[in-house]
Amino acid sequence: MKIALINASPRGKSSTSAVLLEKTKSYIAGSNEFFDIQANKEKLEPAELETLKQAEIWVFANPLYIDSLPGHLLAVLEQLEIECRQSHKVYVIINCGFYEAVQNKTALSVYKNWCSKAGYEWCGAAAIGGGGGIGFMPPELPFNAGPLKPVNDAVVKLSACISGGTKTEDILASIGMPRFLYLLGAHAGWKKAAKANGLKVKDLYRR
Ligand SMILES: Cc1cc2nc3c(=O)[nH]c(=O)nc-3n(C[C@H](O)[C@H](O)[C@H](O)COP(=O)(O)O)c2cc1C
Repeated sequence: MKIALINASPRGKSSTSAVLLEKTKSYIAGSNEFFDIQANKEKLEPAELETLKQAEIWVFANPLYIDSLPGHLLAVLEQLEIECRQSHKVYVIINCGFYEAVQNKTALSVYKNWCSKAGYEWCGAAAIGGGGGIGFMPPELPFNAGPLKPVNDAVVKLSACISGGTKTEDILASIGMPRFLYLLGAHAGWKKAAKANGLKVKDLYRR
């Protein structure tokens, strides 16, 4: 099977989307040919469009932005709808900064409506909450245990569907730590980022 892995995070290779896409790839069974596409721009190149036309399966990975899809990704979806007229199976891995995976639901509706309008086959999604924490985990931490286990389980489930070409309901999972701990970590991260950018903590509350 020809499978296109489309990373639509503006953070590219250092994004949580990239981590999730790599893990998914490692779990997809069978003899497959993979194509990595960086969709962190508003327009795909002709060569990238050609590659996408060849792939039976498209797996998108992207962050949630303002309860929806990043603007450049919407532009790419419009371009695909015009340029790639044949049907493709569409899977999505979406992650958000909020702890609750359900935050991603509206964005998944955007994908579902797009598939229905463009004539693509919506096959399902893994929606991850607490995505902001995934990239901050020490690299030696196993993906299939501890706080990353629920995320890993979701990715394994979606990968099995991709391997078999089957459909799934939305698979929702949040990072495996208490919500208050995740929030503590997130606040510490904001303060660190403020200092690194020459700001004071009180500047974070400026309006
Ligand atoms: C402009 C912008 C808007 C965002 N909007 C939301 C949002 O509405 N809800 C949410 O839970 N996270 C939001 N986030 C957080 C990202 O979804 C989160 O940091 C994610 O893990 C980034 O994934 P990536 O590394 O794959 O890009 C936003 C981040 C940015 C930069």
